[in-house]
Amino acid sequence: MNHGGGIFARPRRQATMVTLGATFTALVTGCAGSSLDQPSGGKDDKGPVKVGLLVPLSGVYSPLGKDMKNGFQLYLKEHDGKLGGRKAEVVEADEGEGPQTGVPAATKLVQQDKVAAVTGVVNSAVALGVRDTFDEAKVPLIVSNAGADGITGANASQFIWRTSFNNTGVNAAMGPTVAKGVAGKPVYLLAADYAAGKEMIAGFKKTFTEAGGKVAGEQYTPFGKTQDFQPYLTAAERSGAAAVYAFYAGTEAVGFVKQYGQFGLSKKMPLYGPGFLTEGGVLTAQGAAAVGIKTSLHYSNQLDTPENKKFVDAYKAAFEGALPTVYSVQSYDAAATLDKALQSAEGASGEAISKALGGVGDIASPRGTWRFAPNHDPEQKYYLREVQQKGDAVVNTVVGELGK
Ligand code: PHB
Repeated sequence: MNHGGGIFARPRRQATMVTLGATFTALVTGCAGSSLDQPSGGKDDKGPVKVGLLVPLSGVYSPLGKDMKNGFQLYLKEHDGKLGGRKAEVVEADEGEGPQTGVPAATKLVQQDKVAAVTGVVNSAVALGVRDTFDEAKVPLIVSNAGADGITGANASQFIWRTSFNNTGVNAAMGPTVAKGVAGKPVYLLAADYAAGKEMIAGFKKTFTEAGGKVAGEQYTPFGKTQDFQPYLTAAERSGAAAVYAFYAGTEAVGFVKQYGQFGLSKKMPLYGPGFLTEGGVLTAQGAAAVGIKTSLHYSNQLDTPENKKFVDAYKAAFEGALPTVYSVQSYDAAATLDKALQSAEGASGEAISKALGGVGDIASPRGTWRFAPNHDPEQKYYLREVQQKGDAVVNTVVGELGK
């Protein structure tokens, strides 16, 4: 099993849960003819491997969770349902809308389901909330979205890896471009009021002001509860800002961008942000209201490369014509890193898998080739994207590169 010494330091109630979890697994194992046993031997042990997929199946970020499920499933479909040559048993758990749901779901995967590793996590607050669960249990977590800086920064764990981005990086990439775009005029900043929103705006503000940009004002809107953005949009307009920089994702991004268009602001104050603002199903729902928005992201399904075209075609074929998103790619790549790590790991302990993750090298991804940096985040470039009308569809056209 993957539990290390840290588990013994836990309060008694949690220790009991571990014992119950072991009984539960043994029962399931009995019914299923031992198919859920964790492989325990060395490289040549080809028994099944149990992996947790922790994504929002409910709440404002549930569309993102769906994309992540699809990305992970597509990788498995293309690899005979195997990771590291072992049959993959995927256990899903609902992250929900925040740590109240996300932390117990992670705890269940680790303690009750006894997965060998977990991938997923959309929300930064959940990533921060589950950090100790994985670190103490010595179970690898491959974060395939949440950008919380602290997960790989000051409070890093050897068991936590990330195939997505960090909140500072994806926004810092955009600062100089926006500063140039507004040519000395001020910009208003808006974001969802939780860990990710704060870090994203801080990351942008740093490089934007360093490039000579001025801030007209900033506000944080209650996360998951704000449906009427009018007061914030009125404040932005009255501030005299020449543009707005905003972080919203999922269903919040749909409401925000539609209202921005309805209030006639798109022409007066161009809208910029990290790419989550106009990604995937969100963009389809925003429709024409999103045209002209410029964003920074490490992926667009419009990327004109053979690797991406192949991926887009395979994804469409697998999911009834749906287009992949950054969330699908991050999760597809999480499966790829886990596959490579399990191939080379000396056994399937959390320590062995984590060590092997450090040696997976280049990942040939639909976003372009990337690799883990020493801090466990991807070393990757960011694209400048602009929402354009293309026939009947609105798409994120890649109009430039923003560097690493
Ligand atoms: C986050 O909470 O880190 C987060 C959530 C949704 C996104 C991006 C980042 O689209």
